[in-house]
Amino acid sequence: MVNIFKKVDNSSQLETDPLLGSKAEIQPFWKKSWFIICMVILIVVVFSTIILYVFYHKNGSLNDIHHVESKENAFTFNATTSSDNPVNVESNENVVTYNGATSSNNSVNVEYKSYPTSRVSSIATTNGDYFKQCAPAVTCNPDDIYRTYNGSCNNLQNPNWGAALTPFYRLMNAEFDDGNNTFRVQLDGKPLPSARQVGVTLFYMRDIRNYDHANNELLVPWGQFLTHDISYYPDDIRNDSTPAHLDHCFEKDKTKIPIECETAILIAADDPVYSQYNVSLFKFVRSTTSVNFSCPLTPRTILNRNTQYIDASHVYGSNKKTADGLRTFANGKLRSRILEDEEYCPQNADSEFKDGPLGKSDVQFAAGDVNVNQNLAIALFQNLFLRYHNHLADEIQTLNPSWSDERVYQETRRIVGAIIQVITYEHFLPILLGDEYMKEYGLTGQTTYDPSINSALAQEMTSGAFRAVHNIIPAKFNLISANYSIIDEVEPSRVLLQPDLLIGNFDNMLRGFLDTPGRAVQPSYNNLITNVVFKIPNLDGYSGFDLMSYDIQRGRDNGLPPYNKMRQLCGLKKANTFKDLSDLISSEDIETLKSLYSTVHDIDYIVGALLEKPRNGSMVGPSTACVIGDSFYRFKVGDRFFYDILGQPGSFTPEQIKSLKKITLSHIMCASSNLGHMQKETFRYVDPKIMSSIMYSCESYKLDLSPWKEVQ
Ligand code: HEM
Repeated sequence: MVNIFKKVDNSSQLETDPLLGSKAEIQPFWKKSWFIICMVILIVVVFSTIILYVFYHKNGSLNDIHHVESKENAFTFNATTSSDNPVNVESNENVVTYNGATSSNNSVNVEYKSYPTSRVSSIATTNGDYFKQCAPAVTCNPDDIYRTYNGSCNNLQNPNWGAALTPFYRLMNAEFDDGNNTFRVQLDGKPLPSARQVGVTLFYMRDIRNYDHANNELLVPWGQFLTHDISYYPDDIRNDSTPAHLDHCFEKDKTKIPIECETAILIAADDPVYSQYNVSLFKFVRSTTSVNFSCPLTPRTILNRNTQYIDASHVYGSNKKTADGLRTFANGKLRSRILEDEEYCPQNADSEFKDGPLGKSDVQFAAGDVNVNQNLAIALFQNLFLRYHNHLADEIQTLNPSWSDERVYQETRRIVGAIIQVITYEHFLPILLGDEYMKEYGLTGQTTYDPSINSALAQEMTSGAFRAVHNIIPAKFNLISANYSIIDEVEPSRVLLQPDLLIGNFDNMLRGFLDTPGRAVQPSYNNLITNVVFKIPNLDGYSGFDLMSYDIQRGRDNGLPPYNKMRQLCGLKKANTFKDLSDLISSEDIETLKSLYSTVHDIDYIVGALLEKPRNGSMVGPSTACVIGDSFYRFKVGDRFFYDILGQPGSFTPEQIKSLKKITLSHIMCASSNLGHMQKETFRYVDPKIMSSIMYSCESYKLDLSPWKEVQ
């Protein structure tokens, strides 16, 4: 300002100008200092407004410090497609005109492009390490129209991105005390409070028997089914020594304490459940790291064994060997078996779970994901999709009798993957996140492929945010008969790894999930799942565990950043004191947190996530919504085979997309069970006795497959 002033007040020049008689007389108004000051102010105001406008629209919110893209990771979202992408998209105020490589009769009624107004961006510096040091060399055929089994070659510039057996993506660098391996400690150097202690103090007996008045229980099996499509990271069997080792955890001579004790979960002497059984520890085995795959990365890095795309890999397998083992190699169908006149997944002769925790289960299903038998709900859904694949394969083969087994299988696999995406983005996520977050995180509308986006599952999502949805697992699964009476109740906590109960109960279980209102969202898990997941403690000392303790401990095992850092990453205000949490957490909970953690910076991510009040019609709090939103945004725009992406060799035709968009979970259930009537919004709770008029005959739920008929 001062400099500008000096320049303007140039009186000596005026005086020496021979053309000027008197300075006062002839000086024009635009040279007057008052005018110049006004102009300067005007220019400053206009420029600042432009800068603020541009900044706001680029980053969503002025407060969202981390919404600025990290150059280091180079995963900046691009509004337009790159030159490698043959799709030409013109965006005009959210209207997209498609001028892609498809022919003119391919015009689609494209509404608007998915574009996040707010996005979390990775600030981790380690995401590239595996790809630089250990990734296998891969050769891709860019013209392939089907996905590979392991997810490689989806991204042609980075063919290993999102493939099975590559690391989870990090939004923030891993946090370990020694920078590499040992659990995070509190700011004052003390160990974190016992995960069980945290669970009991904050959440024990907080189970409110309230129902979700809008939704049924189907959100649970769908949420878990979806999880198993994108994630699998087992415990490290090398450290899975017998619980007897834990007998030595309290040895006075510290050198005699086995390594297993370092991560075991301490149970207090006054624990409301386990004290009666004299149990003082939960065994906890750490996740397998890249070291097990000859890739010794630092800090410890977890590899995802399933493909990191929504591609039905849990139905088909994440490698060719598994996929081939599940095929009949005739008419495109999957292997199955008939039990009590119904179709089920084939038997897994090698199952490690033949002896269930409470008894023997002769039935052990085989599927694309090894967790198929974990509980009845997931077993039900894996069988549902096996049946649907075989139903669809029959239809495709009938439509195109000349097609080979391979063609029918691959086309059916492609459609099933697309269907899982449609149900997830059109029906499941809008309920979980609410419409506002759906728009905010760019989860609606036409997808434009962006090869700069790595769609791999975030560690913060799989070990934190998505697990918060464990809070809607019901205490009991109802089995409901055809005349809508409850014929049995099953506690999921007592029938883990016992899928034999599904045989003969397939329709009853489906009706149970459909016709029972869901568990209301609340900051706790049901009391059974938090206390006796795998075994009743008095049956075998150290083998019981509670899911909440495990979720908290898993976050530490996987080096998740604490809640306060995740808040910041999500554009929320950093809390400097416990009191600053009051924007999202109740004052009672803040008091309890104070009693557990040394500082506000020590709170575990999942603990804060569970305590946050949901916002914007969502079922989760903002620091959970942002991580879930980011993940599903990347699963969408970073997947070259995403079902509504146009112009790629593997793209569906616009007519096929139109047909796919109409599909609901009701279509799948109708085609794969004996249920006769279904509501259109499958996840909505509809009392079949008083609202039967909005349940339509299964005849009306048929996928229009005519766009798949090959014109000779
Ligand atoms: C009956 C229902 C369910 C049961 C019994 C169940 C149980 C479990 C168990 C035992 C684990 C492993 C814990 C560990 O060792 O770290 C786990 C992991 C996980 N669960 Fe669930 N869960 C259920 C439903 C859900 C739902 C509805 C969601 C989300 C919508 C979900 C998301 C996850 C995620 C993201 C993981 C980590 C992923 C992985 O293990 O690969 N689960 N669950």
